[in-house]
Amino acid sequence: MEVDGLDSGTHVYSKPKVIIVAATKGGTVKRTLAINLAVAAQSRGMKTVIIDTDIEGDSGQGSCLKWKSRREKPMPFVKGGNLNNLAVLISKAWVARYKVVIVDTAGRSTPDFKSAGGFADFILIPSQATILDAEAVEAILRQARASDVRTGIVLTQVLQENHRRTQRYRQKYSAMATVFQTTIRRRVDYADAIARGLGVTEYHDDGDCDVEVQTLLNEILDSINQ
Ligand SMILES: Nc1ncnc2c1ncn2[C@@H]1O[C@H](COP(=O)(O)OP(=O)(O)O)[C@@H](O)[C@H]1O
Ligand SMILES: [Mg+2]
Repeated sequence: MEVDGLDSGTHVYSKPKVIIVAATKGGTVKRTLAINLAVAAQSRGMKTVIIDTDIEGDSGQGSCLKWKSRREKPMPFVKGGNLNNLAVLISKAWVARYKVVIVDTAGRSTPDFKSAGGFADFILIPSQATILDAEAVEAILRQARASDVRTGIVLTQVLQENHRRTQRYRQKYSAMATVFQTTIRRRVDYADAIARGLGVTEYHDDGDCDVEVQTLLNEILDSINQ
C-alpha cells in the first residue's frame, strides 16, 4: 500500500529506550521508581510499557502488575515477563511503537541479568545510604560491566540531603559509578500514590515527589542521548 509515496512496509520507527531498574536486594525502591518514571514518561507523550519481571515467588503485593490492577488509566502499559525473554519483549514493544520500556527486576541476583543488561540503554541502580545496599550496588555493577551499558546510581529513601551520612554515601557511590544529582527523599506520597494505582506525578502534580521523578527522568534521558 502506498501512503504519501512511501511503502507502508518501509516506515522506520526508532527502537524504544530500554531502562532496567536493578539491584540485587529488595526494598531499594526499584518498583516505586519503575512505576513513577513510566508514568512521567507517558505523561510527556512517550508511549511507555513497564515489563514486570519481579513476579515469581512474590505474593504480588510488591509488583507493578498489582499496581496496574488498582489503576483506571490504561497507560503506561504493564506486562509480566522474564528477563531471559527480554529481547523478544523489546522487539514486540518496538513493533507496537513504544518509545520507552522500563524493566522492573527482582531483588536478587539472577544469571539472566547479565544477558538482559546487553539489551538495555541504561541500568538504573536505586540504593539507600546503607552498607547492605552498597554491597548490592557492587554486585549489580559487576554484572553491568559485562554488558558495557550505561549505568547510574540514584540515592533513595534519603532523609536529609545535606546529612553527613548522605554525603558519605554519595562519595562512596561516586567512586563506583555515576551518581545522579537527584535524590529520592523518603516521602509518604510515594507509598500513598502506589496504593491508589497512581504515579506521584498524577497524585500531586508539581509536588516534591513529582519534581524528583521528573528531574531524574531528565538526567537518565540526557545520559542515554549523550
Ligand atoms: N521514597 C520513598 N519514601 C517512602 N517510602 C518509599 C519510598 N520509596 C519506596 N517506598 C516504600 O518502600 C517499600 C519498598 O519499595 P519498592 O519500590 O517496592 O522496593 P523494591 O522494588 O526495590 O523492593 C514499599 O513499601 C514502598 O512503598
Ligand atoms: Mg520490587
